[in-house]
Amino acid sequence: MTKINAMWQQYPQLAPELNATLTLIKQNIKTEDPKVTNAIIDMIHAGGKLLRPAYCLLFSQFKQTDRKKMIALAAAVETLHTATLIHDDIVDEANLRRNQPTIQAQFGKDTAVYAGDYLFVVCFKLLAHYTSDLRSIQVNSRSMEKILNGEIHQMKMRYQLSMSLDDYLLQIKGKTAQLFSTACFIGAYESGSSQSFAKQSEQIGMAIGTAFQIVDDILDYQQSSTILGKPVLEDVRQGVYSAPLVFALQDADPELLTLLKKRAAMTDADCEQVRQLVVAAGGVTAAQNLAAKYTEEALSAIQKLPAGTAQTDLIHLTKQLLNRNY
Ligand code: IPE
Ligand code: IPE
Ligand code: MG
Ligand code: MG
Repeated sequence: MTKINAMWQQYPQLAPELNATLTLIKQNIKTEDPKVTNAIIDMIHAGGKLLRPAYCLLFSQFKQTDRKKMIALAAAVETLHTATLIHDDIVDEANLRRNQPTIQAQFGKDTAVYAGDYLFVVCFKLLAHYTSDLRSIQVNSRSMEKILNGEIHQMKMRYQLSMSLDDYLLQIKGKTAQLFSTACFIGAYESGSSQSFAKQSEQIGMAIGTAFQIVDDILDYQQSSTILGKPVLEDVRQGVYSAPLVFALQDADPELLTLLKKRAAMTDADCEQVRQLVVAAGGVTAAQNLAAKYTEEALSAIQKLPAGTAQTDLIHLTKQLLNRNY
């Protein structure tokens, strides 16, 4: 049995539901080709953090509702996330994900494309099976569209030294925060909470997801690939300029600009030098402050939700994500 991340031991009400989510996802992976099936199952076994289903389930715990349905909807959200990771790793030509070789690195591009496609199908199969509400399907497909637009904007802005903080925020709200937001909305909406509560949950998810991606981008400048289980500093070489660098570029050192202008020809030593210059320019600190600001925004809205385990868990988890180092 796949073990969920040890962090969930601190959430006894949520942990069994996350285990059930993972089991349901695995039960739904049955392609024609055992190679593709196993590739997907291996990636799931490698253990993602399960944050999006966790938020979906937590926002559904404010109401008494059919837990089986909520677990299935949480599974749909995680399946969509996993599909985007597989395709993202193809685009990035990444060789490591969750501390194991990516599907593309192990089985080639074709298997990776089909594995990702298959997970999109599973996402919609789960949604279609467990909800009769067209609104959730609409929200999910709009969410996919926004994720894609975030990625396209990121692609368009590659290697732009004029990239602004607004450009960056637009990208991450699309590519990452959108799915957190949808997870929270679906959790609230499908469990029978009011429209206004669901809208509020959606906004909270947006702030949480924005903070999450900023922290992820900070870790890229601070952590080793072994701890993160994925490559580090690849974004810079590929022209994807994230928060720490965007801040450093606001008053850029000529040395930093010279390095960046090498584009894909940057060596590992160049990337390391960029890292040091960005840290010295205060880029990481500025990004930390920005992540803290979005976390605060989320926390102050969560404080206004009804008291209980769901609220306490939401506060704890959201704080934990700001301070994570993995
Ligand atoms: C990775 O997300 C992609 C980003 C949005 C940064 P996660 O860090 O949640 O990935 P897993 O599921 O835990 O591997
Ligand atoms: C991932 O963004 C967002 C999606 C998969 C849509 P990143 O490219 O920043 O994520 P990592 O760093 O590869 O996990
Ligand atoms: Mg990537
Ligand atoms: Mg990244």
